[in-house]
Amino acid sequence: MKLSDKKAILSFSDGSKPVEFPIYDGTVGPQVIDIRKLYGQTGMFTYDPGFLSTAACASAITYIDGDKGEVLYRGYPIEQLAVNCDFMDICYLILNGDIPDLAQKKEFDTLVSHHTMVHEQMQFFLRGFRRDAHPMAVLTGLVGALAAFYHDSTDITNPHHRHVSAIRLIAKMPTLVAMAYKYSQGQPFMYPDNSLSYTGNFLRMMFANPCEPYVVNPVVERALDRIFILHADHEQNASTSTVRLCGSSGTNPFAAMAAGVACLWGPAHGGANEACLQMLEQLQADGGLAKVGHFMEQVKDKNSGVRLMGFGHRVYKNYDPRAKLMQQTCKEVLAALGLENDPLFKLAMEVERIALEDPYFVERKLYPNVDFYSGIVQRAIGVPTALFTAIFALARTVGWIAQWNEMISDPEYKIGRPRQLFEGPTTRQVPVRK
Ligand code: CMC
Repeated sequence: MKLSDKKAILSFSDGSKPVEFPIYDGTVGPQVIDIRKLYGQTGMFTYDPGFLSTAACASAITYIDGDKGEVLYRGYPIEQLAVNCDFMDICYLILNGDIPDLAQKKEFDTLVSHHTMVHEQMQFFLRGFRRDAHPMAVLTGLVGALAAFYHDSTDITNPHHRHVSAIRLIAKMPTLVAMAYKYSQGQPFMYPDNSLSYTGNFLRMMFANPCEPYVVNPVVERALDRIFILHADHEQNASTSTVRLCGSSGTNPFAAMAAGVACLWGPAHGGANEACLQMLEQLQADGGLAKVGHFMEQVKDKNSGVRLMGFGHRVYKNYDPRAKLMQQTCKEVLAALGLENDPLFKLAMEVERIALEDPYFVERKLYPNVDFYSGIVQRAIGVPTALFTAIFALARTVGWIAQWNEMISDPEYKIGRPRQLFEGPTTRQVPVRK
């Protein structure tokens, strides 16, 4: 962290002595005021529920400029990465800081592909679930259970263990997601085929069956790979912060990742892709394009409880660049699959058009986020709605594990322990009941 020449001085209206705090510069983005000594010096805490103004850590992985609508993975713009790299390049980049050269890429692809199988006992654990269980419930359990099967890489003080766990998680997530899907369908699990690409192998594990040959459709493979790239990391979002907080206690990486999966499930976060598609389907069932205007009035009415899913973001006050790429991918996939007239895509475009012109959305700077179009792409390639968030989790695993590793490697890391403003009763005596 680079110390700034500027200092922050906090003064009080009751005449108590002002206190001074150091300010640090990042390489880009807002400066931070280091308030770690605030409690020691004043006996006061800061109050910031929802972390509206709090940097909970220093990180060198992903940078978002919400006003510009920019995302950089390790300094590279997401638009360039989405076009020039595949998801394995992105995993390598996020974990190691640089885009791999051809030899490094080959070695990394081979390494990941050699960890795609899961312990055979995992299927018996999976079989304990109801077949109609939500995939995110199943995935939370399966990811947590990895700690029981891969205990030999859970020493978090050992960098080699941390590396092996990272590779295992990235490699095994597609297998687990596909197993959860196959189980819900009552179909046999498909073992990984390491001759395929990471994404091609996932498609095969999802959609092939043991009775017939399966050929990966390159358009679908590329589209899904792009979905993975766009979801790979997003700095200190709720699930990543959950992984960091959970991991800060020193727990093993599989347990910390399971916490991330659980957090991602919520509709304000990764669950928005499922909720967004359900919203569009409901709108279509209620009258489609003819009813968009009425629906948008409901969204603007605070008493209706209706939110426009796939819209708005804590950080972006401009178009989410991932949503732009997703919209483009959506058009390409629908055209390639002969679904240009997909009614949900038309509906989504109309909802977006109205929103971008409506003062409610304009004043609040609400734009489509990554989840607005991703569901339409996934639906077009045959992924069932309930599995959308599990696919997000698969892609975000690399971000979670890289951020967790960054935290554990940081000499300044401490267990995360927020404080509170207590508003409950002070000491009382337990009444004697007669
Ligand atoms: N529909 C209608 N109004 C909205 C929406 C929306 N989707 N999002 C924000 N607003 C309004 C909100 O009512 C508030 O209005 P007012 O100032 O009059 O009270 C204002 O905009 C600010 O909203 P906020 O809830 O204070 O903003 P936040 O930063 O706390 O929440 C958010 C961000 C993403 C949770 C929220 O925009 C939202 O619920 N969006 C829908 C769910 C969604 O798409 N989530 C995916 C996020 S991106 C992918 C990911 O992170 O997983």
